[in-house]
Amino acid sequence: MPLKLGLIGYPINHSLSPWIHNEFMQRLGIEGEYLLYEVPEANLGTMINHIKEMKLNGFNVTVPYKQAIIPYLDFLDSDAEKIGAVNTVVNENGKWKGYNTDGQGYIRSVKMSFPDLFGASKKVLLLGAGGAARGIYRALTHEPFERIDIANRTGERARSLLDVKEDRVETSILSFQEAEQQLFNYDFIVQTTSVGMKPNVADQVISLENLKENTVVSDIIYQPILTSFLKNAQRQNGRTHLGHAMLLYQAQLAFQIWTGKTVPLDRTLSKLEQRLR
Ligand code: ATR
Repeated sequence: MPLKLGLIGYPINHSLSPWIHNEFMQRLGIEGEYLLYEVPEANLGTMINHIKEMKLNGFNVTVPYKQAIIPYLDFLDSDAEKIGAVNTVVNENGKWKGYNTDGQGYIRSVKMSFPDLFGASKKVLLLGAGGAARGIYRALTHEPFERIDIANRTGERARSLLDVKEDRVETSILSFQEAEQQLFNYDFIVQTTSVGMKPNVADQVISLENLKENTVVSDIIYQPILTSFLKNAQRQNGRTHLGHAMLLYQAQLAFQIWTGKTVPLDRTLSKLEQRLR
């Protein structure tokens, strides 16, 4: 039976997911299709019933429905439940189970480039506490880091991230000023705020003056470009990580949930970079 996959969101006409999953099917010689379900909010329930009747094998969920989809599902994976958002749904014999592969996909993309970073003595600073940060924080807590601190403009929002943490994980909530002062403590800095997301904008969320040499500085912007934050990290002898590969790794995990197969990403990553440039 050909694989039947799809994406639900609004708007989704610029989404790269159809291209990515079609590449995956081609690469593995799997016959199938990846359909787009662009639905305005009022029609979400009707659309989900339609997807269920169409007996899709699974589908992705993107903005604005990552939370709204949850009441329509039969089960949630434990990470999706903690995070409170779903980006991947699989049809398990007519029951629909929700997963969240965003944070884990991000971690996989960092691990591929910097395997040395994942040790028990390493300290992480997460900048931002929005939707993306929540999934990434949850995924970071599965790794053996010594501590994962969070700095966000709104302290209350940073504290709300602590709901998703594992007990053994040490986290302090910092102001941006405190983060700047203690920056030399960190081995890995993850920038998830929307500050400086636009290409050629000089804004950056904190100063990197006190950065320790060799610290990995990551910005989750989708375009494969060096933001001013990353350029400054390079000037301070940091190692930089760009966010676009996370798109592929979250899709690789979703595809694995749907098919049980792991797609090699070597060729797709360079093709994705060409498309994004
Ligand atoms: P996403 O889903 O991409 O994470 P989001 O949920 O809107 O988007 O979160 C945006 C993040 O950028 C938040 O951490 C937000 O900080 P607040 O929680 O204080 O709003 C941060 N952010 C946005 N504009 C900012 C600014 N001008 N200065 C500092 N942080 C900013």
